[in-house]
Amino acid sequence: MPIIYDSKQKTFKLDTKTSSYIIHVYRENYIVNLYYGALIPDTFVSKRVERSTNASFSVANPAIGGYDFSPDTAPIEYGCNGAADFRISALSVRNSNGDSTTDLRYIGHSIYQGKPELEGQPTSYLNDKSEADTLEIYAEDKVTGVIVTLYYTVFADQGVITRRAKIHNSSENPVKLERALSLCIDLPDMDYDLITLYGRHNKERTVERRRLAHGIQGVESKRGASSHCQNPFAAIVKSGANEEYGWCYGFNLVYSGNFTAMAECDYNGTTRFIMGINPTDFAWNLGAGESFDTPEAVMVFTDKGIGEMSRIFHRFYNNNLVRGEWKSKKRPILINSWEAAYFDFDTKKLVDFAKAAKKLGVEMLVMDDGWFGKRNDDTSSLGDWYVNEKKLKGGLSKLVSQVHDEGLKFGIWYEPEMISPDSDLFRAHPDWHVHVKGREPMQGRQQYVLDVSRKDVRDGLWQMMYDVISKNDIDYVKWDFNRNITDAASAILPAEKQSEFFHRFVLGTYDIMNRLVTTFPNILLENCSGGGGRFDPAMLCFSPQIWCSDNTDAIERLTIQFGTSMCYPASTMGAHVSACSRTGIATRGNVALWGTFGYEMDPRKLTKEERDIVLTQVEEYHKYYNLIHYGDLYRLVSPFENPYYAVWQFVSPDKKEALVTKVTVKRDEIHRTFIVKLKGLDPEKLYKCDITDEVYSGAALMNAGIVLYNYARNDGESIKLYFSEV
Ligand code: DGJ
Repeated sequence: MPIIYDSKQKTFKLDTKTSSYIIHVYRENYIVNLYYGALIPDTFVSKRVERSTNASFSVANPAIGGYDFSPDTAPIEYGCNGAADFRISALSVRNSNGDSTTDLRYIGHSIYQGKPELEGQPTSYLNDKSEADTLEIYAEDKVTGVIVTLYYTVFADQGVITRRAKIHNSSENPVKLERALSLCIDLPDMDYDLITLYGRHNKERTVERRRLAHGIQGVESKRGASSHCQNPFAAIVKSGANEEYGWCYGFNLVYSGNFTAMAECDYNGTTRFIMGINPTDFAWNLGAGESFDTPEAVMVFTDKGIGEMSRIFHRFYNNNLVRGEWKSKKRPILINSWEAAYFDFDTKKLVDFAKAAKKLGVEMLVMDDGWFGKRNDDTSSLGDWYVNEKKLKGGLSKLVSQVHDEGLKFGIWYEPEMISPDSDLFRAHPDWHVHVKGREPMQGRQQYVLDVSRKDVRDGLWQMMYDVISKNDIDYVKWDFNRNITDAASAILPAEKQSEFFHRFVLGTYDIMNRLVTTFPNILLENCSGGGGRFDPAMLCFSPQIWCSDNTDAIERLTIQFGTSMCYPASTMGAHVSACSRTGIATRGNVALWGTFGYEMDPRKLTKEERDIVLTQVEEYHKYYNLIHYGDLYRLVSPFENPYYAVWQFVSPDKKEALVTKVTVKRDEIHRTFIVKLKGLDPEKLYKCDITDEVYSGAALMNAGIVLYNYARNDGESIKLYFSEV
């Protein structure tokens, strides 16, 4: 059983194939965490609950007596403010008396097979009820009447536990949630590094590793989106951990809005980690009988290093997060009009693109920004989601059918959550944008944010989208989001609920995305936010792929894709070959193969030599599709650590094939050898290398490695070596 309750010990044990998680109900019904780490067989572990040291003064519950147990030092499972747990908390409730002390105690639990639904928010899911088991722990604060349900769903075969909380006001008085986080975990020491992913537009998800120190450290977003600047991912790894070795805890929040991910190391040298909705600019009113659900957080533990942590996330997201028809259907190779034409296109140009692209083996044309309203640059028309017939003469259906006649699928661009000040929509509804009464709102890319926290706005927006999509045979939608949220307020929310705005906005976004994917289940949705500004697990519940970055330079993409792969699988990473010429087209292709693959260039302008390379790339895309999309990734040489090379490898789940890609960032003028040890192969199998025709055992490839020095030695060159079982 993945979840057991030992009533004698009053202990819950949650086991996956790689980890155990142990919760204990202590005296006076305090819920404490005893352990999270490598699998252990029994429920009896040392009770790291009672400690003799105190911070400055001893504070303890007189009902227990003595000072051995104090919430100040105990590993409280879901820390709250006010009752002697002074660390960063998961929950803070301002009750009707105005104080904010909350003291949660165990009142019951249930254990069952399956996973409960979460209405209105995206979560991981089960393909089959037997895939996971759930523990619900109920905890009550007697004074406020707040009842918290802590949900733990254990995906035993995957090595994953998901967590979230429901906060219910069972009293007759209103309360206000000032913090309501998804996860809180106390680790017994602080000998860890924190790994996070920072960045900006054009440089998303840079891996950053820092040693934990006393105090609070971490990352957050206050931008109304998960953001380019920090990703809602954090790993806490043992100080010496590397790709292959060491204890690693990975956390990822299934949320697309403001988040926090913070670690606090206390004076005792223990670590608390919390993750959830950012409490800054957040407060949620809970009337009598009302409940609030936090987003879901995904937890991964492995004792086999950072690489294995990533692979557990990858398998889990491919299997239990990405959904719908396109989860397992082969994604089409697309060509996107943006970098080839920007706003300057018409029906003829797009059909010419389609004709030229078809000859190269491309399978879908995507018409990017500029097809609607009077949009000829980025100063107008967001919100006017009707076809600009000056550009698309004869209408959209004529264009779509011409593209289909060429044998290509057709995709279209939207930026639904935005409104241009210069738009018919804004003139008709001057209060539909996000703004504070009496304050001129900030503009980003000369646009406002549409207030999708409002149902009437969502209905109006959806009607426009539905009219276009339902009347045309659309195969794909690219959903963009090109600014962050400022002046966060809604014209229709009462003053006391304005603090709910940010979360209501995110729920509104989920609602429209949900309408799109449920009304048009055949459509392939690709998310985007000025590149990868909203690359998070919540978006992956709607769109199986997300545009990784507007930076399509193959060398820059190396760090972006290495960073993204910390928790997101190749199948989700939008990657295209563009006209960006710092490297040759072959390297651009080799790097883009690590993602969903496509082109972002004028296909009519390719030289004969480039066309031949593209034809080979298309062939390789098909050949390596399963290996890359569903294989295991090994980051062999990281561009974050090596100034000369990046090398990565995919291994098929049956270990019969492997693909190794080397890119030379900068020619190494010093060393005259470069040997790389492959990983994840079967030591007993024999593999033939397609470049040398040599046959090696898996053991030889993994222990002696292969010499990669002689291949692709110069700046920007690259090579792929394919190994198949003989
Ligand atoms: C930002 C996206 O990342 C680009 O790919 C493109 O769609 C533009 N927006 C269009 O405005």
